[in-house]
Formats: sequence, structure tokens, C-alpha cells
Amino acid sequence: MLAGVTSAGGQAGRLLQIVVCAASPAAEVGRLVGLAQAEGWIVQVVATPSALDFIDVAELERRTGRPVKSRYRRPSEAKPPRADAIVVAPATYNTVNKFAQGIADTYALGLLAEAPGLGIPVVVLPFVNSALAGRRAFARSVEELRAEGVLVLFGPGEFEPHVPSSGDDRIDAFPWERALHALPGGAEH
Ligand SMILES: Cc1cc2nc3c(=O)[nH]c(=O)nc-3n(C[C@H](O)[C@H](O)[C@H](O)COP(=O)(O)O)c2cc1C
Repeated sequence: MLAGVTSAGGQAGRLLQIVVCAASPAAEVGRLVGLAQAEGWIVQVVATPSALDFIDVAELERRTGRPVKSRYRRPSEAKPPRADAIVVAPATYNTVNKFAQGIADTYALGLLAEAPGLGIPVVVLPFVNSALAGRRAFARSVEELRAEGVLVLFGPGEFEPHVPSSGDDRIDAFPWERALHALPGGAEH
């Protein structure tokens, strides 16, 4: 939708913001970074404050050539470029519910809060167990987000919740590529 940005290597391209939340697959978010870069995206990782404990910030900054952002800028700091698309993966129960409710108390949520109104495509790939996924609050959040045009990859054939305490066994199978290919213009469109 927008003109895009210039990469650390000087190439112009479309900017994908990857919002990473505090769930176990976050440690593997570099896989999504690599897949997106292979498809020509310039990638910016945005971490929730809690997710910083799950990721290797230095490694992600090296791979993307951009700082991992986790807090709002100071008023005196320059405004960063807007994304052309946003993928939230892994999306926690917490962030999915807050996004749906319109809460913007992390930098990641602030980006998400504005995205539907700006026409920025958003794909949400949750990682939640069945105890969390079964809450009415979560079902309402998924419904609310879909009603606003957010693509939530949750349900049969998409992300299916696991038995509580078995999440670590599901990290390898986390379908990063589905989130990328669900973007408008991705392989599934
Ligand atoms: C080791 C560990 C694993 C977690 N795994 C999950 C998870 O799979 N899904 C989830 O929704 N929350 C999980 N949580 C809880 C979230 O980290 C917690 O709700 C946090 O407030 C989420 O913050 P965020 O949404 O801002 O990233 C986990 C927490 C820890 C410490």
C-alpha cells in the first residue's frame, strides 16, 4: 500500500513488521524473518516487552539490519516508517485479547491499534493452549478482530490449540510460513 522503505543494504522494498509476543515459539522467530526476507520483504521485528526474554535481540538485529523495537519512541525521536503489512507471531492470549479490546499499552499494540484504520493488512498467528483458547473472551476477540478485517489464523487447518503444558512439543510445527503466505499477495492468494 505505501511506497516502502530502504533496507540496511540500500535496497528499496516493502516493510513487514513482525510482532513477536511472549510464547515459546518466539525463540524461533528468526525462521519467519528468513522466510520473509527470501520473499523480498524488508523486516522489522517488534517485540512486546515480555517477549524480550524469549528472543535473541542481537541476532535478530543482525539479520534484519534494524533495531528490535519494544517501546514507544521518545517524542524527540524520529517517527519510524509505517509497515506495508504486519504479522503477529506467535500471538499470545494476552496480546490477542488486548488488540481486540483496543488497548495500546505496548509499542506492539500501538502499531496494531492503528493498522486496521490505516488499511495495513494484519495476520495474527496465535500460540495458545486449549485452556486459553476455550475462553469465551478469546473466542470473542477472534471474532472481533475478524470483523475488522484482521486475518486470524485460528481453527481447523490453521493454528489448532494444544493440550496445556504441551506447548514446547509444538514449537517445531509452528506454521510460520502460513502467516507469511496469508498476507495479501502471498502464495495463498
Ligand atoms: C515460558 C512461558 C511460556 C508461555 N507460553 C505462552 C503461550 O504459549 N501462549 C500464551 O498466550 N501465553 C504464554 N505465556 C504467558 C505470556 O508470556 C504472558 O501472558 C504475557 O503477559 C504475554 O505478554 P505479551 O502478550 O505482551 O507478549 C508464557 C509465559 C512463559 C513464562
